[in-house]
Amino acid sequence: MTTQTGYAVHQIARPTGFPTADDFAYVRTPVPTPAPGTALVHNLLLSVDPYHRGLMDGGEGGFELGTPLEGRAVGRVVASRDPGLAEGDLVFHRRGWRTHALVTLGVDGTRRLRNHDGVPLEAYLSILGGTGLTAYAALTRTAALREGEDLFVSAAAGGVGTATGHIARLLGARRIIGSAGSAAKVAHLTGELGFDAAFDYHDGPVGEQLAQAAAAGGGGIDVYVDNVGGDHLEGAIDVLREFGRIAWVGAISMYNGDRSPAAPRNLFEVVHKSLRLEGVLVRHHTNLQDELEEFLVPHLRSGRIGTDTTVAQGFDHTVEAFLGMLHGDNLGKMLVRVEG
Ligand SMILES: NC(=O)c1ccc[n+]([C@@H]2O[C@H](COP(=O)([O-])OP(=O)(O)OC[C@H]3O[C@@H](n4cnc5c(N)ncnc54)[C@H](OP(=O)(O)O)[C@@H]3O)[C@@H](O)[C@H]2O)c1
Repeated sequence: MTTQTGYAVHQIARPTGFPTADDFAYVRTPVPTPAPGTALVHNLLLSVDPYHRGLMDGGEGGFELGTPLEGRAVGRVVASRDPGLAEGDLVFHRRGWRTHALVTLGVDGTRRLRNHDGVPLEAYLSILGGTGLTAYAALTRTAALREGEDLFVSAAAGGVGTATGHIARLLGARRIIGSAGSAAKVAHLTGELGFDAAFDYHDGPVGEQLAQAAAAGGGGIDVYVDNVGGDHLEGAIDVLREFGRIAWVGAISMYNGDRSPAAPRNLFEVVHKSLRLEGVLVRHHTNLQDELEEFLVPHLRSGRIGTDTTVAQGFDHTVEAFLGMLHGDNLGKMLVRVEG
């Protein structure tokens, strides 16, 4: 596909369970002309995210059928009638799933990228984007992780998971345990990313595997960043120490199937152990964006941490990238480079 013509992904059917490629269509669209107060952006990178799955069910705030989908993106301004944006500016905005977008500075989160020297563009949709911000808010605000504490994170090899591992290490966590969906991911966590222990949740009951991983470090954890829900949450509640904290970020085990899972069956342990369980929504933490960048950019520059992305090449792989992410094909944050 050439970007001389615009393309957008439309949802054309409501999925039941896992979505399939038949639920989407690539639609050719005229490249829009900016009206006064707007700028035309040629998208460079798109983010495909678990929350998109929920929006695909429709209902209030959900995606409408037959219109371009929305998502985080970074792109370059190619024509501007917005006095705040100049041709050539790199911007973050939410009009992804398409090759070209009309945006207005300050509207729907559209902002100019700070363009830190030595930081790749991918970082702005991964560890410096909503993904990293979620992990940062979960650790520094919701769970208030302290130096020397032990942490468990689920979906640890994904976007929020890898960001959580990096940030927790920088904050001085003692042991970091992760769960993921394959032996290769487990090896990546303990090998490349410096996790102290990791396990494949397919290999046995999550609670037992987590208890074993924690026992190797003396037993117990202080903080759980939950990306998965269900049996992961139940296992973590069992292993958390008194006064432990759960930052509940997501429940991907529920997004494509049973929305009322059997687990956790041990919720009352929250009382027995004086635990704190609190939900995290990144949109309530956008005020931390500058703080996140100041905290992480020196470590990205020095190479101490990476951006951790899987990048699909070409806009026509957007749907495939989204479906692949739901099935666990990604290491780090799943992105799409518009020009393959
Ligand atoms: N609250 C917020 O504001 C906020 C913001 C961003 C993200 N989130 C949530 O954070 C979580 C991670 O998001 P992300 O963008 O970083 O995605 P991600 O972790 O990069 O990708 C999703 C991963 O989920 C795992 N997965 C899929 N089905 C699973 C299942 N049944 N059980 C366990 N793991 C499963 C897959 O890895 P495996 O191979 O390991 O299975 C897949 O790679 C999601 O729950 C998302 O909704 C919340």
